[in-house]
Amino acid sequence: MKIVVKRGEITGFRTEAVILPCFEGGEGLQGKVRLLDKKSGGLIKDILGTGDFEGRYLQVSVTYTGGIIPAKRIVLVGVGKKADLTTDRLRGAFATAARYVRSLKIKEFSTSPDFIFLNKPLVEIVRAVVEGVSLGLYQYTPFKTIDRDKIKAVKAFTIIEEKEKAYNIIRAAAKEAEIVSSAVSFVRDMVSAPGNEMTPSDMAREARKIAKRRNVKLKVLEEKEMHKIGMSAFLGVARGSEEPAKFIILEYRGGSKSESPVALVGKGLTFDSGGISIKPSEKMEEMKSDMAGGAAVMGAIMAAADLRLKVNAVGLIPATENLPGGRAYKPGDILKSLSGQTIEVLSTDAEGRLILADALTYAGRFKPAAIIDLATLTGACVIALGEDVTGMMGTDEALKQNIRRAADATDERVWELPLWADYHEMIKSDVADYKNHGGRPGGAITAAAFLSKFVGNYPWVHLDIAGPAWLTKDKPYIPKGASGVGVRLMVQFLKDRQKRSKS
Ligand code: BES
Ligand code: MN
Ligand code: ZN
Repeated sequence: MKIVVKRGEITGFRTEAVILPCFEGGEGLQGKVRLLDKKSGGLIKDILGTGDFEGRYLQVSVTYTGGIIPAKRIVLVGVGKKADLTTDRLRGAFATAARYVRSLKIKEFSTSPDFIFLNKPLVEIVRAVVEGVSLGLYQYTPFKTIDRDKIKAVKAFTIIEEKEKAYNIIRAAAKEAEIVSSAVSFVRDMVSAPGNEMTPSDMAREARKIAKRRNVKLKVLEEKEMHKIGMSAFLGVARGSEEPAKFIILEYRGGSKSESPVALVGKGLTFDSGGISIKPSEKMEEMKSDMAGGAAVMGAIMAAADLRLKVNAVGLIPATENLPGGRAYKPGDILKSLSGQTIEVLSTDAEGRLILADALTYAGRFKPAAIIDLATLTGACVIALGEDVTGMMGTDEALKQNIRRAADATDERVWELPLWADYHEMIKSDVADYKNHGGRPGGAITAAAFLSKFVGNYPWVHLDIAGPAWLTKDKPYIPKGASGVGVRLMVQFLKDRQKRSKS
């Protein structure tokens, strides 16, 4: 879908449909809504008057203008009470309206929201509108072969603005949101892809596409090289699979040479069967999404490069399958990590922390200013916080605060869980340094405590995205399935960092 910003008057613009956000509670007839109402001879007042449409959040109503104005349809979308308006609601409303328009088989639509009466900074509104439309219209269709011509797809979305100054701001904000949204879609595509089509080698291939960008370098460590440097925790997990494991390293250098990079580490399990500690078969197919952290890291690097952010960031993605092959690692095995510390394997299904252990240690080679890992690490985190929330644990208060700030700005919710000393006791092994399973109580936290042992002395935060990475039901701008969570959060974090380093 093309996103276009045009200068002009919405009242004179020819379009299949114009979407207008509308408040609830008698506040509907304002700004552009009021303007179009006047031009169309009171069409909107009629709708509001009948009570068919009240402006409730996500309520949609369509009116045919009958040629009174060049726009064929006016699609009103409720954004709820003025006092309750958030950017998240704007995203949701525009996503819902865009899907409604698509259901009418319309190929082109537009908007011209009144940026003043919405009571938020222009840039924020535009970003929310563009993100809502493009994230809400996402669909995953590459494997549908029947009636492909019946798949509905919108070709163009236009934002109309009459004033020059606003127009320029809108263009920049829309471009930025488009870049971020396409990175999210890229991640959703990767995570939606089935395990047979998204192997570790396929992930490396996707990384190669990202490395075509300016200032991005790619290195992929093969099993042989990993063996040489001693990444035996990662390789232990990979042993049960015939698919060669890959350690993907994407380096983006947009900041000054002297500045230490942020290391983003992402879990890349292209399929997690549990290994010898095999999972129940019900819902096992969802474990194709166990590389969502790795994909999010790739998407964040991609967006950072496309936005030309003035930051240095390196993405590290250990990618492998976890399968119960004949040479698979077994419960009771002891693995020696890249850090030199030993790990007793109690469950081969606690594999994420093993591959991340080596990746986190490897991240130290970049002398990073901070390390952030994203991983669909534990079912326990989903039990603790629910499906919509990312669990945050870490060692550095300032870093956690900055992530909280980015979470507030993007509405990718994050909630901290404690990482007290007691939890560290729970992962001590009788025969090795640590065990990879601390029991069911506090499972999300003991997993993080385990990771902390391999980080070294760098500010570090772990984000457990096991809940929000894969949705079991639709949300207004996230169709069920792969959400692409973590991309908008990390891009915002890097943007804020760029701002901080400027001052
Ligand atoms: N990939 C899973 C965690 C997961 C579960 C993600 C559900 C998304 C949805 C992870 O590798 C895993 O199997 N974790 C185990 C850990 C346990 C064996 C200590 C879990 O959560 O049960
Ligand atoms: Mn597992
Ligand atoms: Zn896993």
